[in-house]
Amino acid sequence: MKSLLTCLSLMVLGIGTALFIGFHDRFSTEEPYYDDEQEGLKDQIVFKFSHVVAENTPKGRAANKFADLVYQKSGGTIKVEVFPNGSLYSDNEEINALQNGDVQFIAPSTSKLGSLSPEWGVLDLPYAFTNYKAVQEGLNGKIGTRLFASLEKHHLKGLAYWTNGFKQLTSNKGPIFTPDDLKGQALRIMPSSVIEDQYRLLGAHPRQDSFNSTFQLLESNLVDGEENTISNIYSKKFYNVQDYLTISNHGYLGYAVMTDEHFWNSQTEKTRTILTEAMRETTEWNEASAEKMNKDQLEEIKKNSSIHIHVLSKAEKNTWMKRLDPIYGQYEQVIGRGLVQDLLSLRREP
Ligand code: LMR
Repeated sequence: MKSLLTCLSLMVLGIGTALFIGFHDRFSTEEPYYDDEQEGLKDQIVFKFSHVVAENTPKGRAANKFADLVYQKSGGTIKVEVFPNGSLYSDNEEINALQNGDVQFIAPSTSKLGSLSPEWGVLDLPYAFTNYKAVQEGLNGKIGTRLFASLEKHHLKGLAYWTNGFKQLTSNKGPIFTPDDLKGQALRIMPSSVIEDQYRLLGAHPRQDSFNSTFQLLESNLVDGEENTISNIYSKKFYNVQDYLTISNHGYLGYAVMTDEHFWNSQTEKTRTILTEAMRETTEWNEASAEKMNKDQLEEIKKNSSIHIHVLSKAEKNTWMKRLDPIYGQYEQVIGRGLVQDLLSLRREP
C-alpha cells in the first residue's frame, strides 16, 4: 500500500513538473509570443484620430472613411484608429493632445479654435453662410486659406475642412419663433465669444460647455436648450429631452481637420502622399453627403419623436438676421475687416 502511494505521488509530481516546464517555455521565452496575425502587425504604423461626435454623423463617417482609405491605399501598412464620442479626448483636451503627440488627427468644430486665433470667429458670425455652396466657396477659397495660415504659429497643420451643416435651436421652455423668444433662456453653446455675444444680445444666458456634457445638461434642466446641427441633435438624441425644435439655419458648424506640424514633417514622403490622397477623397465625399445626412436625420426625428418643429419663414429669418446684425460691427476689428468683408461678399451672391 505504502509503495503504491509513493508511486502515485511520484507520477503526480512528474506530470506537474512536465506541465510547469511546458507552461514556462511557452510564456517566458526571451522573445514575446506572436501568432501569425500579430507577426504581420509588427510593421504596421498606427495613428490615432480622436473626435467627439457619434459615428453616424458627417464627421464620424468621414473619419471612418479616411481610416478605410488610408488602410486600402497603404496595403494595410498604415492603420488609423478612430476614437469617436470623446472616448479618448473631450473637445477641451484634443488640441493639447495633438500638440503633445498623443493623437495624430483631430477635427474640432471651427468654433472651438478661437483660443488659437480670433480670426476663426468669422465662421461663427450669425448667418455667416446661407447655403452649402457658399460654405465651400469660402472655405476652399480665401477665407479657408487665411484661417489655415493662422494655425502655423501654433505648429499645427490644417489638412481639410469638413462640413456638418447649419445650426438649429432646441428648447424646453417654449416654441422659438422670434429672437425675443430666447429671452431669459439658458443655452448650452460651444466655447466661442462670437456665439456667446449673439445670445447675450438676445437676452439669453449662454453657457459654454463641452459637447459630451450637453445631453446631461439638457436632461437635468441645467440649461433650457442648445443650438446644433440636425445630425448632432439626432445622433445624441437631444430630441428626446427637448420639446421644441426651430429650423433656423442661423449659424454654420463645420470642422478643421488638423495634425501636428512636427508629426507631419517626420513622416516619409510616401506616407504623406497616402494621407493627403485619402484626405482629399474623404473631403470630396463629405462635401457631397453632409447635406443629405442632415436632411434624412430630420425625417428620422419626425418619425421617432413628438418634438414640435417650427421652420422659420423667409420673413422670420430676415427678422433674426437684422436682430443679430450688430455682431458684425462688434467683431469686425477682432476678426479682421478683410475676412469679414470676404464673408459678406459671399452672402451677397445670388
Ligand atoms: C458641439 O460642440 O456642439 C459640436 O462642435 C460638436 C461637433 O463636433 O460637431
